[in-house]
Amino acid sequence: MKEASMSTKYLSFPSMLLLLHLCLGLWSVSLAATDSVYDTFLQCLSKNTNPADQISSILYTPNNPSFTTVLQSYIRNCRYNTSTTPKPLIIVTPLHASHVQAAVICAKNIDVQLKIRSGGHDYDGISYVSDVPFIILDMFNLKTITVDIQTETAWVQAGATLGELYYRIWEKSRVHGFPAGVCPTVGVGGHLSGGGYGTMLRKYGLSVDNVLDAQIVDVKGQILDRKAMGEDLFWAIRGGGGASFGVILSYKIKLVPVPKVVTVFRIEKTLEENATDIVYQWQNVASKIDNDLFIRLLLQPVTSRTKKGERTIRASFISHFLGDADRLVSVMNSAFPELGLKKSDCMEMSWIESMLYWANFDNGTSVEVFLDRTPNSMNFLKRKSDYVQNVISKNGLESIWKKMIELGKTEFDFNPYGGKMSEIPEVETPFPHRAGNLFKIQYSVDWNEEASEADKNYMSQIRSLYSFMTPYVSKLPRGAFLNYRDLDIGVTDNGKNSYSEGRIYGLKYFKGNYDRWS
Ligand SMILES: Cc1cc2nc3c(=O)[nH]c(=O)nc-3n(C[C@H](O)[C@H](O)[C@H](O)COP(=O)(O)OP(=O)(O)OC[C@H]3O[C@@H](n4cnc5c(N)ncnc54)[C@H](O)[C@@H]3O)c2cc1C
Ligand SMILES: *[C@@H]1O[C@H](CO)[C@@H](O)[C@H](O)[C@H]1NC(C)=O
Ligand SMILES: *[C@@H]1O[C@H](CO)[C@@H](O)[C@H](O)[C@H]1NC(C)=O
Ligand SMILES: *[C@@H]1O[C@H](CO)[C@@H](O)[C@H](O)[C@H]1NC(C)=O
Repeated sequence: MKEASMSTKYLSFPSMLLLLHLCLGLWSVSLAATDSVYDTFLQCLSKNTNPADQISSILYTPNNPSFTTVLQSYIRNCRYNTSTTPKPLIIVTPLHASHVQAAVICAKNIDVQLKIRSGGHDYDGISYVSDVPFIILDMFNLKTITVDIQTETAWVQAGATLGELYYRIWEKSRVHGFPAGVCPTVGVGGHLSGGGYGTMLRKYGLSVDNVLDAQIVDVKGQILDRKAMGEDLFWAIRGGGGASFGVILSYKIKLVPVPKVVTVFRIEKTLEENATDIVYQWQNVASKIDNDLFIRLLLQPVTSRTKKGERTIRASFISHFLGDADRLVSVMNSAFPELGLKKSDCMEMSWIESMLYWANFDNGTSVEVFLDRTPNSMNFLKRKSDYVQNVISKNGLESIWKKMIELGKTEFDFNPYGGKMSEIPEVETPFPHRAGNLFKIQYSVDWNEEASEADKNYMSQIRSLYSFMTPYVSKLPRGAFLNYRDLDIGVTDNGKNSYSEGRIYGLKYFKGNYDRWS
C-alpha cells in the first residue's frame, strides 16, 4: 500500500495543510478500538445532525450484516476485493449535505482518515482502501441531477454516474450532451475532480473545461460554492483531485451542443493487413484532423487468422464523429485515405445511441440501461498511462509489437489529442497535458484468475511494457493522467516512498501546476 504518500503529494497546496491533518491524523487507532471509535463518532455525528435523521441508520460497521454488501457495491477492481484488503472501521452513506458536513467534522475530531468514494472506479482503489485506519464517506445516495436546457447547464451531485447524467440530458434534449467518459458507471465525483475526458475532447476539451461552479464541504465542514471558496480552490478542484481539497457535493456544468446525427465506425487491421503503416499514419493525422472526429486506436495481441498458430497485433480504429456519414467519409478520404473508410463502414445514430455504442452495448439497447449501476463485467485489473509528443517510427512500432506479443496480454489505447485540447493553456486547470501532445496511451491488463501468482505475472508484464516504452513517451517529467491512477509511479527503484516521491507524483500528474503555490 502506498496511499500514505498519495496524501502528501499536494503538500504545496495551501488548502492541503488543513486537510492533511484530516488525512494523516493519528494513525495509532487500533482495530481493537473499533467499538469506541464507533461510539465516539456516532456521538459526534448525533450532535452535528438533526435528531430526526437517525444518523446511526446510515452507518455501517463490520458487525453490521450489510457491511460487506455496502462495501463491495462500489468496488470495481477485484484486486481490492480480497479478504486481505484493508477494511474501513465504518462506512457512512450520507443522504443530505448536512451528513457530509458532520462526517468531515467528526472524522477530524477523532483523528481518523476519511476516504471519499463516489463511483468507486479508481483503478488503484484509493477511494476505499488505506494502510491506516479509515472511514469511508460513500456518496452514492447523493445523485440528484438537475438539467436546465434554457441556460444549457446542469447541477450534478457527486454520487451520480456518467450514465445517469447522459440519460437526464437526453430526457430534456436530443441536441445537447456533455464531454465526459465512455464508461457509464464511473462516478461524477472522482471523474470530474480528476479531469475527465471522452470522445468529444478534441471538440470541447475535458469535463473540467466545462465546469462553471461547484459545491464543496471544506475541512472545517463548511459548504462553499465557487464564490465562497474563491478562484484558487475552484481552480484546484477542476483536475487536481477532489479528495485533496475537500468533499465535492456537486458540480455545475455547461452542456455542449451535439448534432441530431452522429456517426461511429470501427475498422480493424492486423499486421498482415499493413497495420504498422496505418498506425504510423494515424499518429500524423489523428490530432490534426477535423475536431468533430475522434479516432481511438485499440492495440491488442491476438491470434493471427491468416498465419496459423502465430500471434499478431490487431489495431482497431474506433471512432466518434459529430456529423453525418457523408461528411465523415469526405473528411477521412482527404485526411486519412490509408484507412480506406467506406460509407458502408459507417453507422449513423443519435448522440445518446453513440454513447451506448461506445459503452459496448448492442444496437437497440434501451437508453434506460444508463440508469443501471451494475457494471458490464468486473475483473482484476491494472492501468497505466503515458503521453506521446513525437511520432513513433515504423521501426519503433515494430519493436513495440514484438514486445507486446512476447508479454502476451497487455493492451494499449491510443487517444488522440489536439483540437480544443491544444487551445487551452497548460495553467488553465491543474490538468497540464495540453498543446504538444499527439496522444495519450492507456495501458491495460485484465484477468480473472484468483491466484496471486497470476496477479504477479500480469502486474509485472504491464510494468515491463511501461519500462520498454520509455524512449517513445514524454520525459522530464514522464507525464501521467490522474484519472488513470497508478500507485507505481511515485515509487523509486528501491521501493521507497517519501515526501520527495510525493513530489514525483505531483510533477507527473500536474507538471508545473503542482508548484503553483509552493
Ligand atoms: C471502466 C472504467 C472506464 C473509465 N473510462 C474513463 C474515461 O473514458 N475517461 C476518463 O477520464 N476516465 C475514465 N476512467 C477513470 C475514471 O475517470 C476515474 O477512475 C475516476 O476517478 C472515477 O471516479 P469515481 O467517482 O467512480 O471513483 P472513486 O473511486 O469513487 O474516486 C476516485 C478518486 O476521487 C476521489 N473522490 C471521489 N468522489 C469524491 C468527492 N465527492 N469529493 C472529493 N473527492 C472524491 C476519491 O477519493 C478518489 O481519490 C475509467 C475508469 C474505469 C474503471
Ligand atoms: C467482490 O466479491 C463478491 C463476493 O464476495 C462478488 O459478489 C463481487 O462481484 C466482487 N466484486 C469485485 C469487483 O470483485
Ligand atoms: C499492404 O501494402 C502493400 C504495399 O503498399 C500492398 O501491396 C498490399 O496490398 C497491402 N495489403 C493490404 C491487405 O492492404
Ligand atoms: C440497429 O438496428 C436496427 C434494426 O434492428 C437497424 O435498422 C439499424 O440500422 C441498426 N443501427 C445500426 C447503427 O446498426
